[in-house]
Amino acid sequence: MIKKNTKEENTERVEKSKNPTFQLVRGTKDILPDEQSYFLWIFDQVRAVANSYGFSLIETPIIEKTNLFVRGVGKQTDIVEKEMFSFTDQGNENLTLRPEGTAPVARAYIEHGMVTWPQPVKLWYFGKMLRHERPQAGRLREFHQFGFESLGSDDPMIDAQIIFLSYKIMKQLGLDVSVAINSIGTEECRNQYKKVLVDYFRTKRSELSDEAKKLLTKNPLRILDSKDENLLPIIEQAPQIFDYLSNASREHFLKVMDYLDELDVPVILKPTLVRGLDYYTKTVFEIWSGEEETSRQSALGGGGRYDDLVELLGGRPTPAAGVAVGVERVISLLKEKNITPPSDYQPDIFVAQLGEEAKRKSLLLFEELRSAGIKVAESLSKEGLKSQLEKADKLKVKYAIILGQKEILDGTVMLRDMENGIQEVIDMKKVVVEVKKRLEKQIRVQAEQIKEEKV
Ligand code: HAM
Repeated sequence: MIKKNTKEENTERVEKSKNPTFQLVRGTKDILPDEQSYFLWIFDQVRAVANSYGFSLIETPIIEKTNLFVRGVGKQTDIVEKEMFSFTDQGNENLTLRPEGTAPVARAYIEHGMVTWPQPVKLWYFGKMLRHERPQAGRLREFHQFGFESLGSDDPMIDAQIIFLSYKIMKQLGLDVSVAINSIGTEECRNQYKKVLVDYFRTKRSELSDEAKKLLTKNPLRILDSKDENLLPIIEQAPQIFDYLSNASREHFLKVMDYLDELDVPVILKPTLVRGLDYYTKTVFEIWSGEEETSRQSALGGGGRYDDLVELLGGRPTPAAGVAVGVERVISLLKEKNITPPSDYQPDIFVAQLGEEAKRKSLLLFEELRSAGIKVAESLSKEGLKSQLEKADKLKVKYAIILGQKEILDGTVMLRDMENGIQEVIDMKKVVVEVKKRLEKQIRVQAEQIKEEKV
């Protein structure tokens, strides 16, 4: 006999659950069963697209040597300067919890001699990333990214394909997105441009914020990325990198744009887009919800070409391009737009039982139906027929099988059509065949209806 809690005990429990002794670390989340369906849905979509475009799944560890990111992502980036969860382990090794997936993939490419595989090596991933950012809407300390990386080709078609795949996945999820794009050229193009840009911003020094003044010596391109409203008019007037691209970089960019046009991906040219990671060369892009970015939202994803990264990490020169999309940001947007994952587990039939003997038999019947490929639901812990049928109704099953004392004695079951309530008695031995017949018939009728509607 289960003892029921008193009202006071329940109130105490609710209070305790509001303020438990142990709570989540700031910026992290439990992903409860309700939300898992979003993750699984997105994972399945990404996997299907990755498979059809020949990308193979890779998993890299959640910890890496700190230097991988210092070198790869760049010493003067926000990630390395402020956001890494780094620690020294018991063996005095400097380790970091993975803040992004590109540097680890490039490390794996070198470490496993992928340079000898057929090029380009096309990889995808779906995993946790950790960044010590100030938690706010769309900004977590532990979050998930899915990403595509294509290493070993400098063909502009690769840039276009990477953009196309991420755009396509967003579309398949029912999201309207736009792609902001730019080219930041090669290191030589950037060095030349940086000089011109610094000269320009120096003439505006008195109007620059302290943060922008700091960036002027440290990383002047990042001023272009500023969200500071006061700086926007100055940024708008700034010289544009496009005018400083080498012929090869310009040609590359024009080809990417041409392919994207061919693939019907709407892009917005954004000359101030530079991205916050140091490994980018030539194409950079971001995926935004809707027509245009607003200061209220953050990018859903971003990426670009990183032709120097593999070499920088000790490998042979290997041109590459990739993208990563923030899964939690995609889920927030899906929820905002009231888009829910399709239910892939919609039971067809419910097994209800009355009495001890029926309960025992229903376990076996459940298994027989399940083995025959029928999606079954039950509520074996519920006793009353009414509450079981209520659950069957809630689950929107087409049929319920009712097993009572009488049916057990007769070797039969009662099959109830949940739509019209009509019940028929069926031989227990034939129940699987009969249920299958009815479900198949229903599918045929539905298909006919759809056909007629189309005509
Ligand atoms: P990223 O722009 O740093 O690029 O991150 C990509 C996406 O991850 C962002 O657009 C955002 O959706 C999500 N994201 C980043 N930080 C957070 C956060 N704190 N909370 C929630 N979501 C976040 C990269 O990581 C590059 N590795 C992309 C890439 C792949 N480039 C080439 N290949």
